[in-house]
Amino acid sequence: MSRQLDSGALDRLARRVIECEAIVGVIGLGYVGLPLAVAVARAGYGTIGLDVDPEKPQHIAAGRSYIGAVMSGDLKALVAAGRLSATTDFTAIERCDVIVICVPTPLTRHRTPDLSYIETTARTIAKYLRPGQLVVLESTTYPGTTREVVQPILESCGLQAGRDFLLGYSPEREDPGNQSFETASIPKVVSGQGAQASELVAAFYGRVVKQVVPVPSCEIAEAVKITENIFRAVNIALVNELKIIFDAMGVDVWQVIDAAKTKPFGYMPFYPGPGLGGHCIPIDPYYLAWKSREFDLPTRFIELAGEINTQMPVYVVRRLEEALDRTAGMALGASRVLLIGLAYKKNVADIRESPSLRLIELLERRGARVSYHDPFVPAVPATREHSEIGGRASVPLDAATVAAHDAVLVATDHDDIDYALIAAHARLIVDTRNVFARLGLSAGHIVKG
Ligand SMILES: NC(=O)c1ccc[n+]([C@@H]2O[C@H](COP(=O)([O-])OP(=O)(O)OC[C@H]3O[C@@H](n4cnc5c(N)ncnc54)[C@H](O)[C@@H]3O)[C@@H](O)[C@H]2O)c1
Repeated sequence: MSRQLDSGALDRLARRVIECEAIVGVIGLGYVGLPLAVAVARAGYGTIGLDVDPEKPQHIAAGRSYIGAVMSGDLKALVAAGRLSATTDFTAIERCDVIVICVPTPLTRHRTPDLSYIETTARTIAKYLRPGQLVVLESTTYPGTTREVVQPILESCGLQAGRDFLLGYSPEREDPGNQSFETASIPKVVSGQGAQASELVAAFYGRVVKQVVPVPSCEIAEAVKITENIFRAVNIALVNELKIIFDAMGVDVWQVIDAAKTKPFGYMPFYPGPGLGGHCIPIDPYYLAWKSREFDLPTRFIELAGEINTQMPVYVVRRLEEALDRTAGMALGASRVLLIGLAYKKNVADIRESPSLRLIELLERRGARVSYHDPFVPAVPATREHSEIGGRASVPLDAATVAAHDAVLVATDHDDIDYALIAAHARLIVDTRNVFARLGLSAGHIVKG
């Protein structure tokens, strides 16, 4: 590896990016990294995926997709054409002109940002960094991470951002399960440390996605992503609160939203549910809340939204308890409950932070016996927070199974569920997604939760 100053290295990098000759490394091949690697390879760049998990490169080499948004056939074609490969060997970084970081950014047990994945990755890159490379962070994080955390680690190898290598930030806007958009059709916010980096980041992504949205600094790009997710968290909390209030008044919140959204300006529909899930909305707002403490500033909207959204499973359990008592004189603790949908949102297999896990925990703590059905989650993977249900299997959805339970609790409204069968055979249904009304299956034994 050559680390001596090389004044022409950045110009050669720019040429390679613009002429689509650059080799691109994508680090972290999960929900964000794999679709991105495929989009980059499709754009014509030689693409190398890097992951610490040895199974990911094996799947990719075999052309087997493990992410819903990526078709195995597409993966196979790109691998066969020699445009995409994957490895756990991080020395490959040296061969890359562009390196994109898509590793997780979770919270610690104390709900503070856990940047350890980003830091480890930056240290690994620093080992192989050479003049003439572009490094872009995509992981969601608070404003300042690229400059304050990533840049010093990369520069610890003696090279300087802006002089020897270029550094940028471009947030991912992946929406798992959304059939209307894919990586390449979602406008991409791009930024760089300094003019040269900004231009090259925009030029690179401009070849991968249909539209780039350049912003003046990495801090703005980081703040854009956090703002988008806080906006969702706060608005979902608002409709969740409205659901509780309107329900007490005998007003159906879904009918309210359906009518309100006909207003052609100034209103955007958000829908209530059993709580928040996924790797983004329940987590990212706390990245900003943590950073705000440095400035002695409270983040009241974020805290309030978090409070309301995390209490939703408790509300849903109370609704179920009341409905069981009212319709069958049955105590929650004596009941058998069939939960529909373990994933945090419809049509995906992702159970990270899923409110369904919390619902099972709350119900079982009260003595109820809970089974679940989810066509996307045949068995519950082991998770640290919900170890007691790890390994449990999805039960089949048939008339006998439905009838054998005292209540069916719909937590996730996957499309591939026979709701008519449930409506026909369930004794009681608590629907947190309004799916039965949407399908015209309203009946006396269906309660909105
Ligand atoms: N999932 C989404 O819908 C979504 C949307 C927008 C943004 N994001 C953000 O994108 C980032 C990645 O999220 P994700 O959902 O793709 O996570 P993920 O858990 O699906 O994938 C992360 C991948 O990184 C790998 N990894 C972990 N440590 C590594 C290391 N040191 N080196 C190389 N690989 C490593 C893991 O093995 C895994 O394959 C996060 O910051 C997240 O907030 C996610």
